[in-house]
Amino acid sequence: MLDLKNINAAYGRIQILHDVSLHVEEKEVVCVIGPNGAGKSTTFKVIMGFIDYLGGEMTFKDQSLVGFRPDQILGMGLGYVPQGRIVFNQMTVRENLEIGAFLQRDKKLIRESMEYVFSLFPRLAERRKQLAGTMSGGEQQMLAMGRALMIRPSMMMLDEPSLGLSPRFVDDIFERILELASSGITIMLVEQNAARALEIADRGYVLELGKNRFEGTGKELLDNADVRRMYLGG
Ligand SMILES: Nc1ncnc2c1ncn2[C@@H]1O[C@H](COP(=O)(O)OP(=O)(O)OP(=O)(O)O)[C@@H](O)[C@H]1O
Ligand SMILES: [Mg+2]
Repeated sequence: MLDLKNINAAYGRIQILHDVSLHVEEKEVVCVIGPNGAGKSTTFKVIMGFIDYLGGEMTFKDQSLVGFRPDQILGMGLGYVPQGRIVFNQMTVRENLEIGAFLQRDKKLIRESMEYVFSLFPRLAERRKQLAGTMSGGEQQMLAMGRALMIRPSMMMLDEPSLGLSPRFVDDIFERILELASSGITIMLVEQNAARALEIADRGYVLELGKNRFEGTGKELLDNADVRRMYLGG
């Protein structure tokens, strides 16, 4: 579904990604792990068309992503939840979700998408009139995910969905991710919570210094002594 071959990418003149290759099959859950600064978020940003692409091939559903703007890539059905649970603080839950549907003009479809998001995250339904800035971190993460789901993507890229959340919310977010996966949405996620992510992932990649370091099934990576020592705390 998503295929990156030898991707090079930069912020201005500083090259960050060096020949990164990865792929995600339809309905897979693929996780990307690696130390801080490895280029995980950068990989998502180059896929979405946010930063300077220097070379390589990137395709989504067999269509090249090179040269497309982020809004066009969203329109292809690739949803993206950036790192840091970014929500519009001064807007309500409902308004944040409406913004997620900015590509959709049909009011009825927007309403249906909102009902879909509320069914996945009942807590957002309860709080639809609350200002996003007054919600807890976990609720804001749900809202950021809900907003990305408003375009009804066939694939979602989630950057650090559980970062900084209390254990209860971490459980909740992982449950929701599994629910999305079982509803047929293809998932690629970046996680600090590497062991946890590899347990739910079909496959995973380890990035380091902007390069591929290891790859395998979730289980292979969990069982790999080097991966355990370097990334999973022994
Ligand atoms: N806007 C930017 N301008 C210049 N350099 C950047 C920018 N954003 C990130 N970088 C650099 O790119 C490198 C990779 O950053 P990236 O955010 O992709 O790492 P990451 O693997 O997501 O790390 P983390 O686990 O901390 O989120 C880092 O060295 C970082 O300093
Ligand atoms: Mg990151």
